[in-house]
Amino acid sequence: MPHRWIRWPRPAGLAYGADYNPEQWPEEVWHEDVRLMREAGVNLVSVGIFSWARLQPTPTTWEFGWLDRVLDLLHEGGISVDLATATASPPPWLTRAHPEVLPIDREGRRLHHGGRQAWCPSSPIYREHSLRLTEEIATRYGGHPALVLWHVSNELGCHNARCYCDVSAAAFRGWLRERHGTLDALNAAWGTDFWSQVYSDWEEILPPRLAASFVNPSQQLDFARFSSDALRDQLRAERDVLRRITPDVPVTTNFMIMGETRNMNYASWAGDVDLVSNDHYPEGARACPEGARARPEVELAFSADLTRGVAGGEPWLLMEHATSAVNWQPVNVATPPGGMRLGSLAHVARGADGVCFFQWRASRAGAEKYHSGMLPHAGTRSKIWRDVVGLGRDLAALAEVAGSRVVSEVALLFDWESWWASELDSHPSDRLRYREIALGWYEALWQAGVQVDVVPPGTDLAGYRLVLAPTLHLTTDETGRRLAAYVEAGGHLLTTYFSGIVDENDHIRLGGYPGAFRDLLGVRVEEFFPLLPGVTTAVRTDAAGPGWTAADWTELLELDTATAVARYADGPLAGVPAVTVNRYGAGRAWYVATQLAPEAMAALLVRVRAEAGATPAADAAPGLELVRRSGPEAEFLFALNHSDAPARLRAGGTDLLTGTEHAPEGWIEVPPRDLVVLRTRRP
Ligand code: GLA
Repeated sequence: MPHRWIRWPRPAGLAYGADYNPEQWPEEVWHEDVRLMREAGVNLVSVGIFSWARLQPTPTTWEFGWLDRVLDLLHEGGISVDLATATASPPPWLTRAHPEVLPIDREGRRLHHGGRQAWCPSSPIYREHSLRLTEEIATRYGGHPALVLWHVSNELGCHNARCYCDVSAAAFRGWLRERHGTLDALNAAWGTDFWSQVYSDWEEILPPRLAASFVNPSQQLDFARFSSDALRDQLRAERDVLRRITPDVPVTTNFMIMGETRNMNYASWAGDVDLVSNDHYPEGARACPEGARARPEVELAFSADLTRGVAGGEPWLLMEHATSAVNWQPVNVATPPGGMRLGSLAHVARGADGVCFFQWRASRAGAEKYHSGMLPHAGTRSKIWRDVVGLGRDLAALAEVAGSRVVSEVALLFDWESWWASELDSHPSDRLRYREIALGWYEALWQAGVQVDVVPPGTDLAGYRLVLAPTLHLTTDETGRRLAAYVEAGGHLLTTYFSGIVDENDHIRLGGYPGAFRDLLGVRVEEFFPLLPGVTTAVRTDAAGPGWTAADWTELLELDTATAVARYADGPLAGVPAVTVNRYGAGRAWYVATQLAPEAMAALLVRVRAEAGATPAADAAPGLELVRRSGPEAEFLFALNHSDAPARLRAGGTDLLTGTEHAPEGWIEVPPRDLVVLRTRRP
């Protein structure tokens, strides 16, 4: 991955701040804003994100005076600015003059303005206007002393990730020509002999619009790739304007590595920014109707670890999260006392060098007026404000953590292409949820206090003692070779059902599943036996003790060179291996052919970790969240207690948050809903 990392000149220590939308408020409020920002310890704000209509009220007029005054005021107050290119939401005049800029959904419905992001990612008209705006802003503010970072657009693809209009169709065809070269190659890649879909002219090819039946899965997969690339092209185009005008100012755009947001392959975007930044909001009930959700703090940790993973291990910036409730869930539950602090500092533990919120001052009008902010409607006489000021103090106390890195013994592979491919329609089971499966394994490690890097498959794995690759459904030849080489050289790999099944075109790898990993795993699967909702199966290990339970998925599997670790104890596959291990070169490859219950995963991982030599970050009570960040002179151990009871930890050092000195190897009690951050000098 060709990264162009620049150490961004963040405010000394950790960054702290928010989106700041002064255009929503009268000018006299701005002075109060800066005063209160200083009181809270804010040192970075993102400005101008939704300001296009104010900055360019008509196609030929520009109004920068108000923004000049805002930036000057912030600078006088010692607050740095992450300045947006303001392109996220086009003004109404643009889409009125050029309705073809508006996106069209899969069912052919045009999406009008009135909300935000009313633009088609492939629109040349949008591109032209957005780059003109970017150029104006970069030229005017590139030398402003408050500017430390450029913020391209905002959450690219949040609402407009996939557009099915004719302009997108033409762009898709152009992208397909690049990828496949010839129509023959495309027909082969898409398997178009199935259902008489053979294309004889490029113009016949469409995005996967609403059709009478299942749409060609390879076409769907290529459209997912194309759509992610189209948004990335917008990022690149704006970034190139910024770099041309201000080569020394780093560029970011806020990713959305959280929950089920899946349309942007951020692993392929990270090399295009100078600093990875991410937004994170806990998932609400809507995203998970069955309640089968990992605990929120585990989901947060997973998202943060994946953000660090796409950032190549570098420190990153939490660009947005919420001080309390959001506005976009069916019921917007407020954050309990202490929750905001723990959540914010969990991101810092996992490599964030700054913590920002949406937004500084809660709006009084508009769709997000019930979204929490740093300064709530209630003003400073509020729990939120007191917590905001307290968090500012905490971040100041943690200043020396900035720049240190999280270094882990265990990696978990996370692959957007496998996510897209494994959840296509007309599969053996529609119950398979790629991210949930990965989260399940991650949660078992989290509970055990084991630190994990969640990384894309292209990451160098050589330094890891153990690599998990749950449901790596789409496996390229290269990934197959890399994983085999990792194990051959002594690595320990654990992979699970429905991995290694298809190639990059979503074609089955033949000869018995999992085609990409048969030799490595030493097994051969001849048929899938998915389970109906509510059906479970018993799984027995050789060891004495209670059996395990599994659900969702089983496989008719035979051993080749592997040995069975556990077998089904009932049902149609009674006696068939469910968990296997294979010696391969100097390493071991484990295969879990079913969806084990959480206790079974945890028990299996104890054994797998012991053989791999992967240890917890410290000796502590189960469920204490543990992460180590290492700097050139010091190491920092974060221990976060999300429970309502005290939890013990064996460690020593100086608690940066309280100044308390703890003797080496003593037991420290972490109070409920609290944390310690210990600095341990290197020996
Ligand atoms: C996203 C956006 C913000 C705001 C928040 C609300 O993160 O970037 O502008 O809409 O959601 O949660």
